[in-house]
Amino acid sequence: MGRKGTERAMKHWRIEEIAWDRFDPSKVDPAVIPLVKAAAMVERNGRDYATYLHRVFRDDPDFQNAAGYWADEEVQHGDALGRWASLADPGWDYQAAFDRYRAGYKLPLDAEASVRGSRTGELIARCMVETGTSSYYSALADGTDEPVLKQICRHIAADEFRHFKLFYDHMKRYLGRENIGLLRRLRIALGRIGESEDDELAYAWYCGNETGAQTFQRRRCTAAYMSRAMGFYRFRHIERGMGMIFKAVGLPPRGRLSDFSARMAWRLMRWRQQRLARQLA
Ligand SMILES: [Fe+2]
Ligand SMILES: [Fe+2]
Repeated sequence: MGRKGTERAMKHWRIEEIAWDRFDPSKVDPAVIPLVKAAAMVERNGRDYATYLHRVFRDDPDFQNAAGYWADEEVQHGDALGRWASLADPGWDYQAAFDRYRAGYKLPLDAEASVRGSRTGELIARCMVETGTSSYYSALADGTDEPVLKQICRHIAADEFRHFKLFYDHMKRYLGRENIGLLRRLRIALGRIGESEDDELAYAWYCGNETGAQTFQRRRCTAAYMSRAMGFYRFRHIERGMGMIFKAVGLPPRGRLSDFSARMAWRLMRWRQQRLARQLA
């Protein structure tokens, strides 16, 4: 089977299977459109991350293969979200927005080793990203009444849960060799979660939603993006995400510590959302 055929076999769904003709403009919440545009940028850029992963895992063809399929799915997420955003806002140019994003946001594609200090660390960081995306698309799917976006977000969320498992399984393999202690794993995980307010998402917001006339300001774009995105979450999304974080660092995913952390994270998120909304106003 050629590469094209393998790709098809590996994907769990395809863009053509989305019921695009069911798109209902009357059910589109205007608040979700800019979020979808920003998400499309980051997702579409998945191939660059696979290039980086290929270098970091240069002698591990199994993982390199898996990273290739993973990137195909991420790119499809971007294309599906981009197509939906173009339906919701016919004046929006997905390709032009993505070209802007690519020109301005660069990953360390020449890295020889993981920026996380170890392969285990790299995979824990990937688990954090997939935890974030799986809960985010679950929240968007639950929070929208527009049937096509709901279907897309459900498909994407299912992929993101599978991606978590993919990186988690490889992480366990490397953990056996690299023997990274719990505290370091925790530090890497928390570090990656903290980076969600770094340039990647803010810049995606900027390229997806603001024309070149305005200059990029991270603080403003982060506030614009985060305050809206956080509004879609419900406690159950945080609770499930917390279980995944615990699992990835090697703590019991269910139990008092996980419950307590989920409640704290939920309160912190509500507080942060209000602060960002005030900052924006
Ligand atoms: Fe994705
Ligand atoms: Fe993913």
